[in-house]
Amino acid sequence: MANEKEINKRRTFAIISHPDAGKTTLTEKLLLFGGAIHVAGAVKSNKIKKTATSDFMEIEKQRGISVATSVMGFEYNDRKINILDTPGHKDFAEDTYRTLTAVDSVIIVIDVAKGVEEQTKKLAEVCRMRNTPVMVFVNKMDREGKDAFELLDEIEDLLKIKVRPLTWPIGMGRSFQGVYNLYKQNLRLFEANQEYVKPAVNFTNINDTGIDSMIGESAAKTLREEAELVETVYPAFDVDSYLRAELAPVFFGSALYNFGVQEILDTFVEIAPSPRNAKTEEREISPYEDKFSGFVFKIHANMDPNHRDRIAFVKICSGRFERNKNYTHVRHQKQLKFSNPTSFMAEKKQIIDYAYPGDIIGLYDSGNFKIGDSLTEGEPLHFSGIPSFSPELFRYIENGDPMKFKQLAKGVDQLMDEGVAQLFTNEFNGRKIIGTVGALQFEVIEYRLKHEYNATCRYEPIQLYKACWITSDNKAQLLDFKKRKYQNMATDKHGRDVFLADTTFALQMAQQNFPDITFHFTSEF
Ligand code: G4P
Repeated sequence: MANEKEINKRRTFAIISHPDAGKTTLTEKLLLFGGAIHVAGAVKSNKIKKTATSDFMEIEKQRGISVATSVMGFEYNDRKINILDTPGHKDFAEDTYRTLTAVDSVIIVIDVAKGVEEQTKKLAEVCRMRNTPVMVFVNKMDREGKDAFELLDEIEDLLKIKVRPLTWPIGMGRSFQGVYNLYKQNLRLFEANQEYVKPAVNFTNINDTGIDSMIGESAAKTLREEAELVETVYPAFDVDSYLRAELAPVFFGSALYNFGVQEILDTFVEIAPSPRNAKTEEREISPYEDKFSGFVFKIHANMDPNHRDRIAFVKICSGRFERNKNYTHVRHQKQLKFSNPTSFMAEKKQIIDYAYPGDIIGLYDSGNFKIGDSLTEGEPLHFSGIPSFSPELFRYIENGDPMKFKQLAKGVDQLMDEGVAQLFTNEFNGRKIIGTVGALQFEVIEYRLKHEYNATCRYEPIQLYKACWITSDNKAQLLDFKKRKYQNMATDKHGRDVFLADTTFALQMAQQNFPDITFHFTSEF
């Protein structure tokens, strides 16, 4: 098997959460523990600030900065760990969904007080679609929050995955004393100190009286009772169930105080999967194959007007990528070679000569790539599982300057390739409709068309509830549907049929009256 040693070392994952649960803090603490950064705040300063929600330029600028932290790589215990950053802002949720197509596992951060929140549910759904193994970190244990059992029920229920706590909290909030590691049989006492974590103390088992002297008899009694309940209620931990994405190990901690971070990191390097097989329309690709293949999962435009290029982020799926070697851009059937492929280590970008499966490289691009494109050594592979989600906000887009029609068309085309939004053409009146998941994208598009393409657009309102792709084996019913709903039919960029539902009711009625038609809410079907 080719490159076996390098591939087996790699662990590529993302940390996901609802905004504010502590994703940035945990990322930063993992980097600190991994020795990749030396001062707290390095990642934090790149975070899209909550205060900037109405100021999209500020957000774009910060997104620009955050290219540097798009992939944070570091070595730990002889593993090469790649953490893929995901934007916290909900208007950029699609970026996050796409990033999830490039990871082999995920850590979900949950705020102990808030429990499972909306964004977490959506992201976990994407993980489920892709069978991505998941670990859970219950954060902010230094604050009052939900009872641990109640929270585990909520996770099972709302994230639709079986759970198994591997550490167990002793108290919470003001009475939070620390966590007991049920897997390794050790106890770590909590101290609200951001600089220092107490070392864990090992025990032979949970009945050791040494525990009583550390946390007091009463807390030790509760710990034992709860640990016994854990044993009876939850399935024993089994790595294979985790790898099959059926069981999520759960950890408790406080990222702010570095607490519980070591436990999850150590377990992560022990059990998280190395690069997995990738699915393509043609066949499944093993990372150990000799020949290189990879796909573009994200494109980042440079906001600096002096450097208009974009960076295409490529996940290496098989073989070894080499600098200055010719590869086939499958969609264009064109040979391309890259003289400045970039790897992203925390705090620095560097040009690399080689990259292996599990790695992410950045390729400077002047408009050749769109999301989902594949690069191979010649084989025409099309990677699957890079979905677009049915957008929820819509506006007609019109040309604001008749002299700049070409510029507008080119700009819109490229922005759609980057995945900023989706474009639909209404079959009835031929008008173009932009669909997005977040309101900010409309401003981003308008601004970028002006500054990057010298084009002006105008938006006009359109009342729509949802756009969904439709397919059916029943050709007659499909035709009948399209005929009756002709005012609400559109095509997407690839010419596929899209139904534009005005209201929830219209969608429900359509689903009810046309049972042979499938309404898809992601573009993957
Ligand atoms: P996010 O990336 O998921 O959006 O969350 P982030 O890490 O930015 O954390 C959100 C807020 O929660 C931050 O406070 C952060 O300091 C705090 N936080 C994170 N982990 C813990 C924890 O374990 N315990 C407690 N008590 N707080 C935690 P902020 O005031 O919004 O930001 P900042 O001013 O501290 O940067």
